Amino acid sequence: MGKVGLGVAAGCAAVTCAIAAALVARRASARAHWRRAVALLREFEEGCATPPARLRQVVDAMVVEMHAGLASDGGSKLKMLLTFVDALPNGNEEGIYYAIDLGGTNFRLLRVEVGAGSVVIGRKVEHQPIPEELTKGTLEELLNYIALALKNFVEREDGKDERRALGFTFSFPVRQTSVSSGSLIRWTKGFSIEDAVGKDVAQCLNEALARNGLDMSVTALVNDTVGTLALGHYYDEDTVAAVIIGAGTNACYIERTDAIIKCQGLLTNSGGMVVNMEWGNFWSSHLPRTPYDISLDDETQNRNDQGFEKMISGIYLGEVARLVLHRMALESDVFGDAADSLSAPFTLSTPLLAAIREDDSPDLSEVRRILQEHLRIPDPPLKTRRLVVKVCDIVTRRAARLAAAGIVGILKKLGRDGSGVASTGKTRSQPRRTVVAIEGGMYQGYPVFREYLDEALVEILGEEVARTVTLRVTEDGSGIGAALLAAVHSSNRQGSI
Ligand code: BGC
Repeated sequence: MGKVGLGVAAGCAAVTCAIAAALVARRASARAHWRRAVALLREFEEGCATPPARLRQVVDAMVVEMHAGLASDGGSKLKMLLTFVDALPNGNEEGIYYAIDLGGTNFRLLRVEVGAGSVVIGRKVEHQPIPEELTKGTLEELLNYIALALKNFVEREDGKDERRALGFTFSFPVRQTSVSSGSLIRWTKGFSIEDAVGKDVAQCLNEALARNGLDMSVTALVNDTVGTLALGHYYDEDTVAAVIIGAGTNACYIERTDAIIKCQGLLTNSGGMVVNMEWGNFWSSHLPRTPYDISLDDETQNRNDQGFEKMISGIYLGEVARLVLHRMALESDVFGDAADSLSAPFTLSTPLLAAIREDDSPDLSEVRRILQEHLRIPDPPLKTRRLVVKVCDIVTRRAARLAAAGIVGILKKLGRDGSGVASTGKTRSQPRRTVVAIEGGMYQGYPVFREYLDEALVEILGEEVARTVTLRVTEDGSGIGAALLAAVHSSNRQGSI
């Protein structure tokens, strides 16, 4: 080989070495990026951990806060609001009742016909969207829109509105002054109609109904949890509490009036009253809070409020996952150039998070489609798709397990958690059968969430006690229950608690 040949050969070798070195460096860098993404995942998983011992701490904290909220207004982040519902439907109600159910991006109009013996003879439920601008305008505009929709609904149904009792489900924190009146404390779930805060929403709806020529007025103003409890109790008298886990989350339960210390002297015929806990605002240092939860809170209009809700409910779960994925995109290259598309708040909705977690195809093809179409991550490899599934799983599992702890908190407060000692100090024998009515898309429409919640209930309560507790899904209970409560509170009191 001549000098030239040698030179060419040496040159080729040098290029080959350089390419090999570049490849090695690239692989090393890819491995480092992957390790970083995995480290972020592990960190997030640890931050969200809810072992049984921690769940029990959350249960106890919930009970402590329930006592504090019942002792004085402002005594706890748990508002423990009076509902003035001291009688629940017992199956003797008869007649036709209407209800309006407002609590999210949709509202529902209902016509319910009931006959004696817990028979729902007929029900008509119509869903209508609420235009986005109405959730940020004035209360009058919103209620006019709803009143007009009700008028059209009544005309379509039977044309007779004369003095019909109306249930109004209003799923936001309300300080009630009677079963049919109460003022809005503040908005949640993204609503922000400033002029409504402090106003009696039932009275404002009555005015809107009158403006629209409807001869109806609100007989029962109820939270969605209270409506759900009413329907649960209508079918099964062992129902003592109700939980909603949907866009937002909350619970209510039947409390003895003598335990509602902040209203000393409060007397009811039944000796009990439904208390709207507003548990979405529950807070405890035992809750597993991560830096992503803090970032999420910063993005919301109700910062420092609804902390429990932000870890559990549908409006927020997808966003927590998105924040984790965005950080991974910034600190590693596992999502290619997708950091920008992952940077937009609320682009990963909770229904998408659920679809990702529930994809059981071997190649996670649904996950690939969602990442490509919704987050503009082109062709993510299988291991990246698995990583995303894991993030969605961690968010779901924590939410479901915390909701379970909340439910056990109520059972414990009622002395129905099998711990043997009611929180009043009296000893109890065998736990009684207990039914908790439950509604909302997270529990009804997301099987993995439901499995995690049910599993955590057994972990906290133990199998024997868990067998005495039934979570009963009701359908449209928030609205139908409001119609039933309108029935109970419109005529002679017939209900029981
Ligand atoms: C509201 C509650 C409601 C819950 C479920 C929360 O954001 O504050 O009043 O019951 O959502 O809809």
